Order: sequence, then structure tokens, then C-alpha cells
Amino acid sequence: MAEPGSGTTTNETLSARALRAFGEHFPGREARLFRAPGRVNLIGEHTDYNDGFVLPVAIDRQAMLAARTRPDSMVHLWSESYAQGSTFDLNDITSDQERPWSNYVRGVALMLQQEGFTLRGLDCVLVGDVPIGAGLSSSAAVEVVAAYAWRALCGLKLDDPQLALVCQQAESRFVGVKCGIMDQFIAALGRAGHALLVDCRTLDYGRIPIPAGIAVMVCDTKVRRGLVESEYNRRRQECESAVHMLRRHLPEIKALRDVTSGQLQRYRDELPDTILRRCRHVVGENERVLRAVTSLRSGDVGVLGDLMRQSHDSLRDDYEVSCSELNAMVETAEATPGTIGARMTGAGFGGCAVGLVEQAVAADWMEAVRVGYRTRTGLEPDIYACRPSDGAGEVENCQRPPAYSGGDSSGRGAATGAMCA
Ligand code: GLA
Repeated sequence: MAEPGSGTTTNETLSARALRAFGEHFPGREARLFRAPGRVNLIGEHTDYNDGFVLPVAIDRQAMLAARTRPDSMVHLWSESYAQGSTFDLNDITSDQERPWSNYVRGVALMLQQEGFTLRGLDCVLVGDVPIGAGLSSSAAVEVVAAYAWRALCGLKLDDPQLALVCQQAESRFVGVKCGIMDQFIAALGRAGHALLVDCRTLDYGRIPIPAGIAVMVCDTKVRRGLVESEYNRRRQECESAVHMLRRHLPEIKALRDVTSGQLQRYRDELPDTILRRCRHVVGENERVLRAVTSLRSGDVGVLGDLMRQSHDSLRDDYEVSCSELNAMVETAEATPGTIGARMTGAGFGGCAVGLVEQAVAADWMEAVRVGYRTRTGLEPDIYACRPSDGAGEVENCQRPPAYSGGDSSGRGAATGAMCA
């Protein structure tokens, strides 16, 4: 969850909103301004918590935090969009049931402290334009912007991958959604014009340029389902049981990441049907991500489109996390000229599809898909091109920290070494 937004707010007006609200609630004090983006995932869905591969893009929708340190341990947090405040003491962080939007910030503070960092109190204001519950990782954007602000304001020595891990812990252990690392990682490490290939076991990553002439489309079905968290946690459990069962034959495996299609085929009769289908999705999806990267690098986007189609079919039939509206959106996109590939993105059960589209026909494409989807479902979708964007940073002083790797486009956590894929 994050800040509600109109969906059309520009970066500039978000900054202005954040600073104006800060001035109103904390008069006479100057703030520093931080931002962290939402994301769309091109391919690699429900693979991150199986130690697998993902290929997300940071988008030009974001959470922003205007913040200033206090001399005490209190955090005074105001949500400009919810028009609510929430106050807590860093010495006694509990969850706020009445203002659950504040728990992402509370969780981040607690996890940073549990990592041994000393935090200072803050006066801060949160704004954002990542739509809530749309599968664009509004919650990760809030977590990452909060962690980024504390790191900058208190001089904390943690690198971007560690910062992402702390935020994932906040969501998993404090908020209670047992998410993988993808959303926080891309929010921290995204790069303009690039997708990010992440090995979710080692946290090796590589930045993959989006070829010129391709538009990344976000297609919001406008359907929001309440089932997401329980179904999400259930899928995780199914994957864990699968590993447990397969270990009878493959004692060396630690996660579904370690299982090949051939091995799955060999032991398929040992698995209940539902578990087999879950495994088939994860094992196939990991292979698809790596093939997608090869096709992006070689410019063979036809292959990428096929892989996106296969990914959607697998999420719909084997992993069972799609829904009729997402299927209608993807089918409408597939039938529209200029489509390279389309699939649901994020956890599923509603939210958004992602489409890769020939830039030259993007305007006509948006209109055709909007009309087609509305005709099929009676719902008015929100369809827009997103700009692959940078990860978290400070606004107006947007110096990125030095790269962690020997090269400028890839890295291995805090150490050096490019990712091979
Ligand atoms: C949510 C989670 C991610 C990932 C996706 C599905 O966005 O937060 O960690 O598991 O679902 O790919």
C-alpha cells in the first residue's frame, strides 16, 4: 500500500506537493526530498521467492518523502494523500492498525535498528503516485524511500542491495506479506532506460538496455482483489512443499531454482497435480527469463514476445494467479497491431498487465486496447506508456552513489563482478 494518486501527477508536482505539505505540518524547517519508484516486471513472475530470476523495470511513478531529522527519537509522519498523521517512538515501534499505511515506514525503522543501525527521529511527509493495489509495488516504493532517507540523513553504511533486503524484511516480518526481493531491489537499483536482471539467490544483477523503438505499456485492469495476500502466501507454501517432496530424489536442491525441466519431468508422478503445475510454472519461468535476456541483448524481440505469451499462459493455467480481466487485457493487447508481447505483471488476481509495443504505433495502440478492453469487460482501464526510470535517489541532488561493480551497468551486491546470463 502507498499513497493514492490521480495517476497523472508529474514528478515536479509531486515534489511541490511534498514540500508544501511539509511546510504546513512542520513550519520553519527545511526538508530534504527523496524518491523511490514503482515497477513493472517484464518477465519472471513468482520466481523471486524460489531463488530464481526476475527482469523488472523501475517506472516513472513514485513515492516521495520530504524529511528532516529531529533531536529526539520521535517520528512524526504525515501522509499528504491520506490526510492523516502517524507518530511513533523509535524506542518502541509497534504496528498502527488504524493507519496501516504507516506500517511500511515503521517496519523499515525497526528492521534497520535490528541490523544494528542507530536512527534519528524524523519529521516527514509522504506523497506518491503509484496506484495502490495495482501490482506496481507501491508498498516497496514507500519502504525504499524511507530506508533511503534514513540512510542519507543518518549516514548509515549500507549499500543498495542491503537496503533492499532490509525493506523486504520490513514487509515480510513487520507487515506480514511474505514477499520476495524483486520489488524492493528494483526500487533501489533501477536505472533509466534499462531492465534489471536479478538472480534472487545471489543478488547478482545486470542492467539490460531496453532497445530503442520499444514502448513499455502499463495496462491497469482497474480490478483490485482482496485475495492477493493469502493466495500469495499459499503459493509460497506450495513451492516449499514441492521442494520438500522433490528432495527425496534430489537431496541437493534448496529451492525450485535448482530443479530443471528434465528433472521435473522425471519425477512428475511423485507430485500431486497442483504442486506439479506450480513447479512447472516456476521452473519454466526461470528458463524464460534467461532466454528473454538473450533475446533483448540480441535485439530479437520476436522471441521475447513469445516468451511473454508463454509466461502469461503459465501464470493463468499452472500457477492460477491471473483473473478474467487480466486475461481479457492480455488477449486484447495480443490482438492489437504493434504488440511485441503482453502478460500479467506482479502478484496477480487483478492489477496490471505489461505490454511491449512498437513505439511508432504506441498512441493508436493505447486507444485500441482501451476500447477493446472496455468493450469486453465494461470497465474503463488506465493505459499508459511508462518511462524506464532510475531507482531511489535524492531529488534535486540526484547524485547516484558510485557503482558497486567494476563496470557501470552490472554488479554483485556490494562486491565486484558482472552477472553472467
Ligand atoms: C509481488 C511480490 C514480489 C513477487 C511478485 C510476483 O509483487 O512482492 O516479491 O513475488 O509479487 O512475481
